[in-house]
Amino acid sequence: MSQQTTAGYSGYHQRQVPAEDPELTHVGPGTRCGEYLRRYWQPVAMSAEVKDLPVPVRILGEDLVVFRDKKGDLGLLHRHCAHRGASLEFGIIMDCGIKCCYHGWHFDIDGRLLDAPSEPAGSPVRQKVTQGAYPVHEHGEIIFAYMGPPEHKPPFPVYDTMCLADTDSKPFSLSMPANWLQVYENTQDPIHVLHLHALSSGIQFGAASGVEQLIDYRDTPLGMINVQTRRVGEHLWTRTTDSILPNCNQTGAIWEEAESSKIFQRVSMLRWMVPIDNTNTLTIGWRYFNDRLDPRGQDDPSIVGKESIDFIGQTGGRSYEEQQRQPGDYEVQVSQRPIAVHALENRVTSDRGVTRLRRLLRERVQAHAESGEAPLPQTNEADTISTYCQDTVCSVKASTDEDKLMKHFGNRVADCVVESGPLTEAQRIEHIQSMCEKEFSD
Ligand code: FES
Ligand SMILES: [Fe+2]
Repeated sequence: MSQQTTAGYSGYHQRQVPAEDPELTHVGPGTRCGEYLRRYWQPVAMSAEVKDLPVPVRILGEDLVVFRDKKGDLGLLHRHCAHRGASLEFGIIMDCGIKCCYHGWHFDIDGRLLDAPSEPAGSPVRQKVTQGAYPVHEHGEIIFAYMGPPEHKPPFPVYDTMCLADTDSKPFSLSMPANWLQVYENTQDPIHVLHLHALSSGIQFGAASGVEQLIDYRDTPLGMINVQTRRVGEHLWTRTTDSILPNCNQTGAIWEEAESSKIFQRVSMLRWMVPIDNTNTLTIGWRYFNDRLDPRGQDDPSIVGKESIDFIGQTGGRSYEEQQRQPGDYEVQVSQRPIAVHALENRVTSDRGVTRLRRLLRERVQAHAESGEAPLPQTNEADTISTYCQDTVCSVKASTDEDKLMKHFGNRVADCVVESGPLTEAQRIEHIQSMCEKEFSD
């Protein structure tokens, strides 16, 4: 914090804008945060975007091109041809790999030069030149890339929520001209749901999300959760929201009304906030659909996809007047400056989640810079990674000390959610259910 004053009309004394925090916000090659993020699989495009032409993408400040060759294999190559730099977005898709349009150099999906057609036979170029390339992995109609050192390539992470029964998923991809961290840390700022999404703009999600909540935070084996507890009529509702380090988030039902009891209801979204570069972010992941998440039929999978999702305020393109009258996440995050300046903030009690998330990230970034360590999650018995985002709603009689009751309920649900990580999905439900019945039944 800086330039503090309590006097009015102090604009003249508050004009300086210090530099941003490069350790957490700069993502290009060789930066501390950028190298840390490169140690994890990152989604780079939806499969539906990659048809019969190469697609230019920019990820972590690197210009790349993604394509599917005629055999059906995906390639992710540096965009500028290793010969003299023409963009491979104008390349010709081959049975195997891609050919640069300028002089016909032909690269395999791993970047090896297969042919330099006008070079004499025996030219050493084929042994000397390689186009930069990254490994890719396709899952659920999303293309992921590993852009870190090849010798550290981790297994592709399959989270438990990627395999839920009776649940449909649809990929989406939304871009925003703002640094990745301010997009990511919004998910550990739950009080904004009350203010931005209810009081300022009118109810934008479920009406129950406009009820004042008690908020707490705790670490998980994957990063952290916030714990939001609300009283809605005869029910207490506790939502836990995942930050899966380094840049993944899960959130509960968009339209939750906490009208009926439910235990460990899983997520409506799994998404990554992927830096395009220092001042642009791609939020890309899956929207999940089932009747339990959407009892009133408010979801609209038909509009979920490229630069489009079925709840308000996540994309640009609305009229300026609408943005002003009903601002959403897009407006607040973009308007925090291209890279939010931490040194100008006055963070308070309700920003504890943001502060905690930055601290966790900084510890990881610094540990990686110092020792090359980038921790990987453990898998459970089902060979997936247990996650910690859920909603639990129980009928609980009001108390004369409601704050104490809500805090206790939220804490106990969060305890059960975290400690049940190693168990199966069914066992986790049973664990939380039996706690609720034993400790909170009417
Ligand atoms: S610039 Fe690509 S082949 Fe010459
Ligand atoms: Fe929001």
